[in-house]
Parts: sequence; C-alpha cells; structure tokens
Amino acid sequence: MIKVIIADNSDLMSKKAAQIFAERIKAKPNVILGLATGGTPVKMYKELIRMHKQEGLDFSKVKTFNLDEYLGLAPTHDQSYRYFMNTNLFDHINIKKENTNVLNGLAKNADEECKRYEEMIKKAGGIDIQLLGIGGNGHIAFNEPGSAKNSRTRVVSLTERTIQDNARFFKDISEVPTKALSMGNGTILEAREIVLIADKTSKADAISKSIEGPQTVDVPASFLQSHSKCTFVVDKDAASKLLKKSYEYVNV
Ligand code: F6R
Repeated sequence: MIKVIIADNSDLMSKKAAQIFAERIKAKPNVILGLATGGTPVKMYKELIRMHKQEGLDFSKVKTFNLDEYLGLAPTHDQSYRYFMNTNLFDHINIKKENTNVLNGLAKNADEECKRYEEMIKKAGGIDIQLLGIGGNGHIAFNEPGSAKNSRTRVVSLTERTIQDNARFFKDISEVPTKALSMGNGTILEAREIVLIADKTSKADAISKSIEGPQTVDVPASFLQSHSKCTFVVDKDAASKLLKKSYEYVNV
C-alpha cells in the first residue's frame, strides 16, 4: 500500500523528503541510497546540504546509485545527470566520489554498462531507500509507458512528451538526447524502501493514476502499489486530483 504525505507546498514537500532520508542515514551510516535528478529533488538536496553543514549529517560512509543517465552525454556535459548530481549535491557534502554511481552515458557498450550497473547494485547489497520523481506521463526513471513491471536496467527511448518536458534544461529541443540508460521498474521495485516526490498541478494526473488507478504498464508509477514500503510525498497541487478514498494520508 502506498502511504501518501501531502505537504502544504513544495518547500515543505522537499523538507519532509529530506527528513526521511536524513533519518535513514542516521540509522544506518553506510546506507545505500538510490537517487534521482530533474527539477523536483533540487530543493530536497539543498536541505540535505544544509543538514550536512549545520547539523553534521554525515555522508562519509553513504553509497549512492542514480536512476538514469542520457545516452551519449559525457559526465562533464552540463546536462548530464552525473554533472547534475555533482553540482546539486555531491560537491557540497562529505560523500566519497568513489561511493557515488551514475550510469556511464558514454560507455562503448551500453548494454554491458547496464549489466555492470545491476551487478554493482547487487554486490553493494541492494538499495535501502530509493528516491523517485515522476513524469507527467507517469514514468519513473526513464521507464516510459509500456515498460514492463519486471524490466531491468537497459537502454530506453524517450517519448516525445519526455523530450519536450526536458527541453527546458537545454538550449534547443534538438539537443535533448532521445535515448537513455535507465534502471528498470523491476530494479526499482527491489529497493527496500521507496520515496516518490512530486509537486505542481502538471503532476496531478500522474499522481492520481499511480495511486488510485489500476496497476498498468500505461502508468509505470502505478507498479509502486505492489511495493511493501512506498511513500509518496507530494504538495497540494500534485495531490489535487486524488479522491483520497482508501489510502493512508498524512498532512504536514
Ligand atoms: C530523473 C528521472 C525522471 C524524473 C521525472 C520528473 O532521474 O528519473 O523520472 O524524476 O522525469 O522530472 P522533474 O522532477 O524534472 O519533473
């Protein structure tokens, strides 16, 4: 069952999600985190940086695995997800860079790179807590509608909608890569705990379908209903289409 936390606004959503991650880091200093990029987690990462600087939140033993990376972008490219993670989080906390893992978008053999990534996650002992954002079309990582529930880390094609959504980060839509390497739905569902964050009304439809609709490949986030420990932390706007019938809701 998905637990839903509805925050009054996007700042509180970010704080609440950061608190959950900070608690897990304190409880298990060598915790394995699954991390996401995109616009939504930026304020949450800022809050984690603040907790590190002001409250001594310690990342020295933490390991991380990111969800996805654009195919063909170098780690130094300012729109690569490796660059995003370094500049939005890793460069500002005491995490060891060798403990941070992002798929290599320039790997000579992308299929091999995906296999290697799966093996690394397994070798590390599996992900303790996975952060997710959600696409307006219900995607998680780059598992677009149509992605099987048991899919693994692989090369995927981005839908036109995702390319359009992500064009805001690039100079021109023609620069948005059309393919990515992405953890699969099956990979994500193996995390011991999952936290999905979402704000803005543009996510309201995807949020209501994933929580209150049927589990379907048309809305990959709906597969999260089958996870035993999954929390959605959403702001009021993203929650605005929920009927709030049969789930556990907490307001903050
Ligand atoms: C990012 C990722 C994507 C985003 C989603 C929402 O690593 O896997 O699934 O979480 O596209 O993106 P934003 O937060 O920019 O709305």
